Amino acid sequence: MDQLSPEQPAGADLFQAGDEILLVGRMQREFLARLTPGQRIKVKGEYLKTESLIGLEVGSSVVTPLNASYLALRPTLAERILNMPRQAQIIYPKDLGLILFWADIRPGGRVVEIGTGHGAMTLALVRAVGQTGRVTSYEIRAEHARRTRANVRRFLGQTPWWEVKLANPAETGLEETGLEAVIIDVPAPWELVEAVIPALRPGGSLAFFLPNVPQVVRAVDAFRESGKFANFQTMEALLRPWNVEGPSVRPQMRITGHTGFITLCRRKLGRVVRLADPADIRW
Ligand SMILES: C[S@@+](CC[C@H](N)C(=O)[O-])C[C@H]1O[C@@H](n2cnc3c(N)ncnc32)[C@H](O)[C@@H]1O
Repeated sequence: MDQLSPEQPAGADLFQAGDEILLVGRMQREFLARLTPGQRIKVKGEYLKTESLIGLEVGSSVVTPLNASYLALRPTLAERILNMPRQAQIIYPKDLGLILFWADIRPGGRVVEIGTGHGAMTLALVRAVGQTGRVTSYEIRAEHARRTRANVRRFLGQTPWWEVKLANPAETGLEETGLEAVIIDVPAPWELVEAVIPALRPGGSLAFFLPNVPQVVRAVDAFRESGKFANFQTMEALLRPWNVEGPSVRPQMRITGHTGFITLCRRKLGRVVRLADPADIRW
């Protein structure tokens, strides 16, 4: 096999044993697998030898013994999240992107997440803050915390700037203070108002993700009535992928109709500062 393409003769990125590979076939069908020597990979209707993919250059097109064509890529984090096996509902990449940007999650940030589930939001947060930041996840179910630990290790490797705590902050409060953001994905965020207030620094962002309107109303009311949060914004992301192939240029037939509502607000101080008389204005 000629593994180095003339397009990129030096510094080629080759799949190694243990890497993850994403095979993209017809109609954008995706197969995500790990290249474990001695094991086979199941793609639509056939098995491929792992050894035939180890050493392949990333970005190559391959044709299988049964004549199916695939593009071989390293998966993006969004593709890993969409393909990971799960029993708990996750936050989808279209919503993760909005939460990260609107809650201003950035390198070096200090963030708490409540309700880690299988860790889709966790993965996005841990990667966004990076090794100069800190993410603490709270989860009440041991098996979900375990699954998230495994997913973070598998997709992001060693991340000492992240930890998961098995606790219910509605009962224990949050140990962290001075946080820049708190992200909540649990069914009853209104139970967490008292826990979030001392943990989030003034001006910091709170985001919660909820699937149903009555939950949104109850949560917004509870945080607003505390008098410690302002600038509420609720939004939903309607993502409509399109098909663009030859004369077929149209929205795809099937779309995800509903995931959830994102609500954001900012921690405010209770005090009001009266400003001095206006200065003379000289234009
Ligand atoms: C929908 S899942 C979270 C999914 C996650 N955000 C993701 O993107 O994969 C909700 C999780 O919150 C946990 N949970 C529910 N109430 C909680 C609480 N009060 N404190 C901590 N975790 C809680 C549940 O056990 C469950 O794992």
